[in-house]
Amino acid sequence: MKLLITNIHQLVNVRTENVLLRGALLAELPSIVNAYLVIENGLINDFGEMHLLSLKYTNSEITVYDAKGATVLPSWCDSHTHLVFAESRESEFVDKINGLSYAEIAEKGGGILNSADKLNKASEKTLLDLAWNRLKDLISLGTGAIEIKSGYGLTVEGELKMLRVIKQLQKISPIPIKATFLAAHTYPLAFKQNHLGYIDLIKHEMLPIIENENLADYIDVFCEEGFFSIPETKEICLAGKSIGLIPKIHANQLSVSGGVELGVELGALSVDHLESMDENAIQSLSYSDTIGTLLPTAAFFLRMPYQPARDLIEAGCAIAIASDYNPGSSPSGNMNTVVSMSCIQLKMLPEEAINAATINGAFAMGLEECVGSIMKGKLANLIFTKPIPSLAYIPYAFGSNLIDKVMVKGVFQ
Ligand code: NIG
Ligand code: FE
Repeated sequence: MKLLITNIHQLVNVRTENVLLRGALLAELPSIVNAYLVIENGLINDFGEMHLLSLKYTNSEITVYDAKGATVLPSWCDSHTHLVFAESRESEFVDKINGLSYAEIAEKGGGILNSADKLNKASEKTLLDLAWNRLKDLISLGTGAIEIKSGYGLTVEGELKMLRVIKQLQKISPIPIKATFLAAHTYPLAFKQNHLGYIDLIKHEMLPIIENENLADYIDVFCEEGFFSIPETKEICLAGKSIGLIPKIHANQLSVSGGVELGVELGALSVDHLESMDENAIQSLSYSDTIGTLLPTAAFFLRMPYQPARDLIEAGCAIAIASDYNPGSSPSGNMNTVVSMSCIQLKMLPEEAINAATINGAFAMGLEECVGSIMKGKLANLIFTKPIPSLAYIPYAFGSNLIDKVMVKGVFQ
């Protein structure tokens, strides 16, 4: 089955090889103006300038779709989400507006422990239905590949239940999903004074089952003051690595913790958040293979300082941007908002933000071979925009829905 898409005003992020972008390269977004694109069996098969559209495509065996001047981009690659959760937490949001601190909210039973309590009471079926509905919404907003974490179970049963829900999602989802094990999200109440006990539980009760059932691709730890210390993070990541889980860690969100340096030392695929960075953290990330994943909507929602994207780009760090979709710090998985906010508040150029949300996001999930750019052999997971005057209009017109259609594996959704 071949599909020829004609009259694309601009075909964006067209590439012939997969390169993790850093420094000045991040601002280079190769595009073809007035383009065609051919899709075969759900994969990108050919593309080029309309005037070069060869006669081989003028036979009756190809279906033609006239894009009528739409701009076409590779779908967003959202490399950091907590999509599986039982209930929203808008009452904490109102508490914060009323002046309560994070600690006071936690004392009232709020925060991650609140989500864990709700999740442990919910059935696998309920969690799956909720997550599937969220995922379908995100696909309609242009997300074409996603990473999903556990971390709201904090018990053996709860963590495994979350990972099994992610596994079910992988089976029914049209878009690729990567699973990350995040039992080290916070210490559950029963282990507040017994950190070693919880780490033992992770190492000896959870990881063996995860390995047996092949339930995760990555291991994550919330490395932060009051959560998991540097030695604790290291121990948990090394245990994960020993069964093949590559670290992708929450680092330097609330404080300069050394989490970034540790991530680089451990060969983490990414270190995520990075609101609180000092020179050492930036230097360690610079030209390393570890990707710095910036989560601007979490900084926005928590009224935190934004990530120093310009400093990171200038220092040669490879950066991606992601939604951090979760009920506590970023109750939105809309990558269009993430792209806008990265330009408006992090001062990323539109080209940089689009690259960070597509090809570098794909790298941050180990999915660069199948998504993240317009390249022969990659999945035809695409965004078709409404008529727009230029590419910069996408982040500029924040909050507007500029998506006309989305395509997943060559099929309009
Ligand atoms: O990425 N920082 C740690 N975890 C989440 C928030 C979790 C929550 O509040 O439920 C984050 O922001
Ligand atoms: Fe997160």
